[in-house]
Amino acid sequence: MAEKKRVLSGNRPSGKLHLGHLYGALSNWVKLQEEYRCFYFVADWHALTTEYNDTKKIRESTLDMVADWLAVGLDPERSVIFVQSSIKEHAELELLFSMFTRIARLERVPSYKEIQQETGRQDLDTVGFLSYPLLQAADILMYRAHYVPVGIDQMPHIELTRETARKFNELFGEVFNEPEGLLTEVPKVPGTDGRKMSKSYGNAIFLSDSPEEVERKVLPMKTDVRRQRRSDPGVPEDCPVFDLHRIFNPAEVIKWVHDGCTTAGIGCIECKQKLIPKINEALAPIQNRRAKVDSKPNYVRDVLIGGNDAARKFARETMEMVKSAMNFQVL
Ligand code: TRP
Ligand code: SF4
Repeated sequence: MAEKKRVLSGNRPSGKLHLGHLYGALSNWVKLQEEYRCFYFVADWHALTTEYNDTKKIRESTLDMVADWLAVGLDPERSVIFVQSSIKEHAELELLFSMFTRIARLERVPSYKEIQQETGRQDLDTVGFLSYPLLQAADILMYRAHYVPVGIDQMPHIELTRETARKFNELFGEVFNEPEGLLTEVPKVPGTDGRKMSKSYGNAIFLSDSPEEVERKVLPMKTDVRRQRRSDPGVPEDCPVFDLHRIFNPAEVIKWVHDGCTTAGIGCIECKQKLIPKINEALAPIQNRRAKVDSKPNYVRDVLIGGNDAARKFARETMEMVKSAMNFQVL
């Protein structure tokens, strides 16, 4: 059998995860394990590029996030689950790439100016923040990944990664393949206020939320503004509750919501009550697995130690290829 193609993706250590992470990325990561050799890592150095002044929570957020990864079904028997800062080779490869990467090219990566402008943070005028997409290129090329499942916002980084691979190969000979971004269809996952679900907006439903918490968050959710009174018909496409129905309910319930909403045949509370138990049903097995993960002392640490070893082994092989291509094996 031919060797499996490799998938790599990573996330900043963000602590406990929510439905946006699950349906936006993780359920796809879990599926990819069936077909590919997967590498999933915690991008803790990337967290430093914007949070260098607040490092206290990185360790705890890393362990908490990986526990949630395991709870949703990332499987350490099949996938390499590791921590970026444990594999020093990422820094080495970035350093080598930095020698032939133009500053102007990095300044043109959209997130560079955008994030500075959006956040108004002048303290992001750093070498680390500018070169962070190059570190991402090193993350990806280190494992000679074929596919990188990411959101659309990350596609400019994948393009830079492909250019970096090409440039390296031109200069030193074929070492890297050009990885492809895997843009999978993801459902819209609105938070309870209708904006994108995000911890920082305070609108998230967490994987760890109890049935009572889910109910407490969903019942007061904003709905379509047209439904001021029970007798006013609504437009479900303009309602975040409907987006969630589309994720959690089967077609016949979605149709029931659609018909009931547009004809004012159902009320919003009734509609939400058909959603709440379905969210809880989806969360229950995840919470069960999370409880098992938490019940084994040091389990997450052990998973990461094993994953780090496997990642390091692969990374060292790549670095041998890189150094030999660059004639850099001095001794
Ligand atoms: N930049 C990504 C983010 O902010 C995280 C990341 C770092 C990543 N390195 C990566 C994603 C490599 C995919 C592949 O979400
Ligand atoms: Fe939203 Fe349901 Fe109310 Fe329609 S009936 S506005 S879909 S909550």
